[in-house]
Amino acid sequence: MTTEIDDVVWESLREAATAAMARSYSPYSKFPVGAAALLEDGRVISGCNVENASYGLTLCAECTLVGALQMGGGGRIRAFYCVDGAGAVLMPCGRCRQLLYEFRSPQMVLMTSHGIKTMDEVLPDAFGPENLENQQ
Ligand code: THU
Repeated sequence: MTTEIDDVVWESLREAATAAMARSYSPYSKFPVGAAALLEDGRVISGCNVENASYGLTLCAECTLVGALQMGGGGRIRAFYCVDGAGAVLMPCGRCRQLLYEFRSPQMVLMTSHGIKTMDEVLPDAFGPENLENQQ
Protein backbone atom coordinates (compact mmCIF):
# COMPACT_ATOMS: atom_id res chain seq x y z
CA MET A 1 0.00 0.00 0.00
CA THR A 2 1.71 3.17 -1.16
CA THR A 3 -1.19 5.57 -0.62
CA GLU A 4 -0.93 8.28 2.02
CA ILE A 5 -2.59 7.65 5.36
CA ASP A 6 -5.40 10.22 5.38
CA ASP A 7 -7.27 11.76 8.31
CA VAL A 8 -10.14 9.29 7.99
CA VAL A 9 -7.77 6.37 8.43
CA TRP A 10 -6.03 8.00 11.40
CA GLU A 11 -9.44 8.60 12.99
CA SER A 12 -10.45 4.96 12.50
CA LEU A 13 -7.17 3.84 14.06
CA ARG A 14 -7.72 6.20 17.00
CA GLU A 15 -11.19 4.69 17.48
CA ALA A 16 -9.87 1.12 17.27
CA ALA A 17 -7.10 1.91 19.75
CA THR A 18 -9.60 3.52 22.13
CA ALA A 19 -11.89 0.48 21.92
CA ALA A 20 -8.89 -1.77 22.66
CA MET A 21 -7.92 0.44 25.60
CA ALA A 22 -11.36 -0.23 27.12
CA ARG A 23 -10.36 -3.92 27.34
CA SER A 24 -7.11 -3.21 29.20
CA TYR A 25 -6.26 -5.27 32.27
CA SER A 26 -4.30 -2.75 34.32
CA PRO A 27 -5.32 -3.04 37.99
CA TYR A 28 -1.81 -2.25 39.24
CA SER A 29 -0.78 0.80 37.27
CA LYS A 30 -4.34 1.91 36.57
CA PHE A 31 -2.89 3.15 33.28
CA PRO A 32 -4.91 1.53 30.49
CA VAL A 33 -3.36 1.53 27.02
CA GLY A 34 -4.79 0.58 23.64
CA ALA A 35 -3.04 0.20 20.32
CA ALA A 36 -4.25 -0.28 16.76
CA ALA A 37 -2.50 -0.84 13.47
CA LEU A 38 -3.46 -0.77 9.83
CA LEU A 39 -1.79 -3.62 7.97
CA GLU A 40 -0.56 -3.40 4.40
CA ASP A 41 -3.46 -5.58 3.26
CA GLY A 42 -6.02 -3.20 4.80
CA ARG A 43 -6.85 -5.14 7.95
CA VAL A 44 -6.93 -3.32 11.30
CA ILE A 45 -5.63 -5.14 14.38
CA SER A 46 -5.47 -3.99 17.99
CA GLY A 47 -4.15 -4.79 21.44
CA CYS A 48 -4.33 -3.67 25.07
CA ASN A 49 -1.94 -3.85 27.99
CA VAL A 50 -2.29 -6.91 30.23
CA GLU A 51 -0.67 -6.57 33.65
CA ASN A 52 0.34 -9.25 36.15
CA ALA A 53 0.69 -9.56 39.92
CA SER A 54 4.36 -10.13 39.13
CA TYR A 55 4.64 -6.56 37.86
CA GLY A 56 7.60 -7.06 35.57
CA LEU A 57 5.66 -9.58 33.48
CA THR A 58 3.29 -6.89 32.21
CA LEU A 59 2.47 -7.08 28.53
CA CYS A 60 2.25 -3.70 26.83
CA ALA A 61 -0.57 -3.07 24.38
CA GLU A 62 1.93 -3.39 21.54
CA CYS A 63 2.85 -6.89 22.74
CA THR A 64 -0.69 -8.17 22.48
CA LEU A 65 -1.07 -6.33 19.16
CA VAL A 66 1.88 -8.12 17.57
CA GLY A 67 0.57 -11.41 19.00
CA ALA A 68 -2.77 -10.72 17.33
CA LEU A 69 -0.94 -9.84 14.12
CA GLN A 70 0.90 -13.14 14.02
CA MET A 71 -2.10 -15.21 15.13
CA GLY A 72 -4.18 -13.55 12.41
CA GLY A 73 -1.88 -14.86 9.72
CA GLY A 74 0.90 -12.31 9.88
CA GLY A 75 1.38 -9.12 7.95
CA ARG A 76 3.18 -5.80 7.86
CA ILE A 77 2.21 -2.66 9.74
CA ARG A 78 1.50 0.39 7.58
CA ALA A 79 0.22 2.78 10.29
CA PHE A 80 0.09 2.63 14.09
CA TYR A 81 -1.80 4.51 16.80
CA CYS A 82 -1.55 4.10 20.59
CA VAL A 83 -3.73 5.79 23.23
CA ASP A 84 -3.76 6.20 27.00
CA GLY A 85 -6.76 5.97 29.31
CA ALA A 86 -7.94 9.44 28.34
CA GLY A 87 -7.79 8.56 24.67
CA ALA A 88 -4.77 10.79 24.12
CA VAL A 89 -2.06 9.65 21.73
CA LEU A 90 0.74 7.77 23.53
CA MET A 91 4.31 7.22 22.44
CA PRO A 92 5.28 3.53 22.39
CA CYS A 93 7.92 2.63 24.98
CA GLY A 94 11.39 1.68 23.76
CA ARG A 95 10.82 -2.07 23.96
CA CYS A 96 7.62 -1.74 22.00
CA ARG A 97 9.30 0.31 19.27
CA GLN A 98 11.54 -2.70 18.78
CA LEU A 99 8.51 -5.05 18.67
CA LEU A 100 6.85 -2.84 16.05
CA TYR A 101 10.07 -2.57 14.04
CA GLU A 102 10.03 -6.32 13.43
CA PHE A 103 6.67 -6.12 11.65
CA ARG A 104 7.02 -2.76 9.90
CA SER A 105 6.30 -2.15 6.26
CA PRO A 106 8.88 0.07 4.53
CA GLN A 107 6.38 2.96 4.64
CA MET A 108 5.28 2.48 8.24
CA VAL A 109 4.22 5.63 10.09
CA LEU A 110 3.12 6.21 13.67
CA MET A 111 0.92 8.84 15.22
CA THR A 112 2.84 10.44 18.10
CA SER A 113 2.44 13.34 20.47
CA HIS A 114 4.73 15.21 18.04
CA GLY A 115 2.81 14.33 14.93
CA ILE A 116 3.24 11.61 12.33
CA LYS A 117 6.67 9.96 12.42
CA THR A 118 8.40 7.19 10.53
CA MET A 119 9.70 4.07 12.26
CA ASP A 120 13.22 5.25 11.53
CA GLU A 121 12.56 8.53 13.35
CA VAL A 122 11.38 6.83 16.53
CA LEU A 123 13.95 4.00 16.46
CA PRO A 124 17.02 5.20 14.57
CA ASP A 125 19.84 2.79 13.73
CA ALA A 126 17.63 -0.10 14.83
CA PHE A 127 18.76 -3.66 15.32
CA GLY A 128 16.57 -5.89 13.18
CA PRO A 129 16.20 -9.17 11.33
CA GLU A 130 18.70 -8.00 8.70
CA ASN A 131 21.42 -8.01 11.37
CA LEU A 132 20.95 -11.75 11.77
CA GLU A 133 21.48 -12.51 8.11
CA ASN A 134 24.65 -14.30 7.03
CA GLN A 135 25.13 -15.84 10.46
CA GLN A 136 26.68 -19.32 10.55
N1 THU B 1 2.33 0.53 28.45
C1 THU B 1 1.94 0.05 27.23
O1 THU B 1 0.99 -0.75 27.15
N2 THU B 1 2.60 0.48 26.13
C2 THU B 1 3.60 1.41 26.13
O2 THU B 1 4.20 1.67 25.09
C3 THU B 1 3.92 2.12 27.38
C4 THU B 1 3.44 1.46 28.61
C5 THU B 1 1.64 0.04 29.66
C6 THU B 1 2.44 -0.92 30.48
C7 THU B 1 1.78 -0.76 31.85
O3 THU B 1 0.68 -1.67 31.92
C8 THU B 1 1.26 0.66 31.86
O4 THU B 1 1.34 1.12 30.51
C9 THU B 1 2.06 1.59 32.74
O5 THU B 1 3.41 1.55 32.43
